[in-house]
Amino acid sequence: MSEQSLLDSSAPAARPGRGDQLDLEVEGLAFGGNGIARHGGFVVFIAGGLPGDRVRAEVTKAKRNFAEARTVELLRPGAERIPDACTHAGEPCPGAPWQGLPYERQLAHKQEQAGEALTRIGKLEGFEMEPIVAAGEQWRYRNKLEYSFGEADGELVLGFHARGRWDLVVGAEDCRLASERGNAARNAVRDWARLEAIPAYDRRAKEGVLRNLAVREGRRTGELQTRLVTSPASFPRPPVDLHTVIEGPSGGTDGPTGVLGAERITERVCGLDLELSHAAFFQTNTEMAEQLYGVVSELAGLEGGERVFDLYCGIGTIGLTLAPRAGEVWGLEIVPEAIADAERNAERNGIANARFRAANARTGVRPLLEEAGRPDLVVIDPPRSGLSQKIVRRVLECEAKRIVYVSCNPTTLAPNAAQLRDAGYRLARVRPVDMFPQTPHIECVASFEREL
Ligand SMILES: C[S@@+](CC[C@H](N)C(=O)[O-])C[C@H]1O[C@@H](n2cnc3c(N)ncnc32)[C@H](O)[C@@H]1O
Repeated sequence: MSEQSLLDSSAPAARPGRGDQLDLEVEGLAFGGNGIARHGGFVVFIAGGLPGDRVRAEVTKAKRNFAEARTVELLRPGAERIPDACTHAGEPCPGAPWQGLPYERQLAHKQEQAGEALTRIGKLEGFEMEPIVAAGEQWRYRNKLEYSFGEADGELVLGFHARGRWDLVVGAEDCRLASERGNAARNAVRDWARLEAIPAYDRRAKEGVLRNLAVREGRRTGELQTRLVTSPASFPRPPVDLHTVIEGPSGGTDGPTGVLGAERITERVCGLDLELSHAAFFQTNTEMAEQLYGVVSELAGLEGGERVFDLYCGIGTIGLTLAPRAGEVWGLEIVPEAIADAERNAERNGIANARFRAANARTGVRPLLEEAGRPDLVVIDPPRSGLSQKIVRRVLECEAKRIVYVSCNPTTLAPNAAQLRDAGYRLARVRPVDMFPQTPHIECVASFEREL
C-alpha cells in the first residue's frame, strides 16, 4: 500500500499529537517498511509495527493528515510474527526492522511493493515483472556496519541508536547482521576504549570523544578494516586501521582520516580481485552483489563490441564485470578515491578496455559523450534519491539502444522510469534482488529499450 494512496483515501478524524501514546492495530506495510494503522480514520505510520500486530506506539511526528510513531510495546504479535532473532540490550536490532516477518513474507512484500511503485507511481505497464532473487544468507550477510558510541548505566557502549532515538545508543554484543569476526572486531575496540576510559561523544551536551566505528570486511579474502571516528582529542593510539577526526556537532562520519593499519581492503566478486578505499561505496552484501551483477549482465545482453557507459560506477564493479563482453567500458563516478580504485582494479584484473572518469553525473556525461562517443548501453546505479530531471536528460542525450537501471529505491525508480518512457524508452524487464534480508530495502534491476 503506498503512503500517498492511503492519504488520499482517508479523512483525518482524531488528530493525535506528538508524544501521544496510542494502541493501534497494524493493517499493512508502507513503502519504506513502516506499519500502517488507522486512528479514527487518521493514518499512522509505525516504526516497529508489522501486519496483524497490536502495538502501543508513541507519536513522533504529527502532520495535518498523517502521523509517524514508534512502537514502544508490542501488545499482541500478529499471527505471522516470528520472535526477534537479533536484539541489543532487549531492543530489536534497528538494522533489522523486518526480522519479525518470515523470510517468505519479506520477499512477497518486496516483490509487491516494487511492482506497485512502478504501476501506481510511475503508471508503467506492459513490462515483465520477474520473481525476486532471494538472498542466499538471511543473516550475517553485511560486509560493513557502522556503530555508534554511547553510554548506558554509566558504562561506555558501542552499538546502535535505539529505534527512533538519536540520543540513545544500545550496546551490541552479537549483531546477527555482522559476521562473528566483525562482532569480535567491534567488541575489541569497545573493550580498549573502556580500558582507556575514553568518553563517548554526547550529541546533546556536544562533548566527549568517541563517535563511531565502521567495520568493513572482505568476505572472500578474510580481510578486515576498522575505522574509528572521534572528536579532536589526545588519547592513546587506537587499535584500528583508520582514524577520522570530526569537529563540531555534525552527526556525519566523513572527515580527515589518518592511516594506522590497512588503508584499503580487497574483496573478490564475479571472479574479479577488487581493492576498495574506505571512502568508496561498495555493495554491503558481497554474495548478493554477485547475483545483482549477474542480473545486470543478463539484462545488458551484450554481444561483444558494444560501448558501455557505467554511470555511478563506484569502484568500477559493474563495468569491469561487463568489460569482457563489451568493446569498451567508460565509468563515471563522483568520488575520486573510488575512481582511483576503479583504475587500479582494471589493472589488477588485466582489463584493458575500461576507462574511468571522476565527475558528477550532472556535468560529466556531456564531456564523456564528447570523449568516448555515443554508447550502445548505459548502466545507471544512482543513490536512493534516483536521477534528477537534468540527469535523466543527460542520459537521454546518450541515445543508447538500451539502458539498464540498478535501483535501491523503487519509489525513485518509478518516476525516472516514467520519464524514460515519455522520452521513447520501453520498460522491458524488472527483476528485484534481495540484498538486504530483515529490512524493507528493495533493490531492482530494470531494462529499457529505445523505441524511437
Ligand atoms: C549505489 S552506488 C553504486 C556503485 C557501484 N555501481 C557499485 O555497484 O558498487 C552509487 C554511487 O554513485 C556515486 N554518486 C553519487 N552521486 C553522484 C553523482 N551526482 N554523480 C556521480 N556519481 C555519484 C556514489 O559515490 C556511489 O559510488
